[in-house]
Amino acid sequence: MEPSTTTLSSRETIDLFDQYVIGNYTRYPACLVRGEGSEIWDAEGNRYLDFFPGWGCDLLGHCPSKVVEAVRDQVGQLIHVPNTWYMEAQGRFAQAIIERSFPGKVFFCNSGAEANEGAIKLARSHAAPRTKIITALDSFHGRTLGAVSATGQPKYQQGFGPLVPGFKHVPFGDIDAMARAIDDETAAVMVEPIQGEGGVNIPPAGYLPKLRRLCDERGVLLVLDEVQTGMGRTGKWFAHQLEGIEPDIMTLAKSIAGGVAGGAIVARKEVAGSLKPGMHASTFGGNPILCRAGLAYIETIEEEDLLDRAVVIGERFREKIEPLRDEVGIIQDVRIRGVMIGIELALPGASIVKDCLENRLLINCTHDTVLRLLPAMNIPDEQLDEGWEILEQAIRRAAA
Ligand SMILES: Cc1ncc(COP(=O)(O)O)c(C=O)c1O
Repeated sequence: MEPSTTTLSSRETIDLFDQYVIGNYTRYPACLVRGEGSEIWDAEGNRYLDFFPGWGCDLLGHCPSKVVEAVRDQVGQLIHVPNTWYMEAQGRFAQAIIERSFPGKVFFCNSGAEANEGAIKLARSHAAPRTKIITALDSFHGRTLGAVSATGQPKYQQGFGPLVPGFKHVPFGDIDAMARAIDDETAAVMVEPIQGEGGVNIPPAGYLPKLRRLCDERGVLLVLDEVQTGMGRTGKWFAHQLEGIEPDIMTLAKSIAGGVAGGAIVARKEVAGSLKPGMHASTFGGNPILCRAGLAYIETIEEEDLLDRAVVIGERFREKIEPLRDEVGIIQDVRIRGVMIGIELALPGASIVKDCLENRLLINCTHDTVLRLLPAMNIPDEQLDEGWEILEQAIRRAAA
């Protein structure tokens, strides 16, 4: 057996993948070995700036010190405790989430898809015998069968049918279409407050409050998928707080704990009470490593005022993008909430992502034409400016 520490070149690691790892991802041709904040290094020692750390999971950048310390401390005490026992860290993390969201209770799991699966089960069991769930076109809720059936993008569903029945998709942001879709069989409405994968789509102002009212009038549950918009990404702990509403159920994952894998369902107390012992479970859910990391993550954000910093970073990007937009003619729209940034182009963005990578900046393109930046909420101005120079040049080259 080879040692588990990093000893291979990027090429050697890629060869291992070619032989042993299922090829379901498109991967960049480098092996990343170390990260600190918004900087990351590959096996050859090349440094990259990261405007997309951890695919939205690393809101504090790579290896935030308090999270690292908490995890180190916890693994020396207990790595995993089954959910047939109580553990202080899970109770304290649930309390911390509730104190920053809305009165309710938390169920912990391991990913966004798993959180959404659980939310679908919870909504159906609470609203029984109603089973229908209305979601939005261009939404993304994950890759498991229920979550992908909820997802309003056929490309993620093709080849995996039959899908889970009971989902209907309506245009995002269209309150009349939602009102028409709700009927006597509808258990819940489920949307992302801002669509991430679908292109960083921000709904019209007032959409979420109208949705809240509609759900109340028609007696259906409002489920918000905050997997990408939480926790802190938009400058609020949760994006629904930008609109002054509360959902009945909210799902979380990605940056729930500064890069440590985890997910959660948060539900209003009456709704949460529908899950009785034995109805739902997750073996690793709410493990002490996740919960200690999550507490350290929240503490860091509050001690360093990073919710406010997220807004400042978003505005700094806007100040840079808008003048370029006027100049180059290929930027069709700029959509920003805190450190959730979408730049919609008049052409596919893949060549710009590649150009940035060659110049050692990591960004993302989603929905074919939307450059998506999900930078860390603690990226220093100098690194932001340095990365922006690279991105600006790449956009200029694509426009030329
Ligand atoms: C809004 C939203 N929901 C759910 C998911 C699925 O999360 P996971 O990949 O952790 O299953 C994602 C992932 O991108 C997401 O953006």
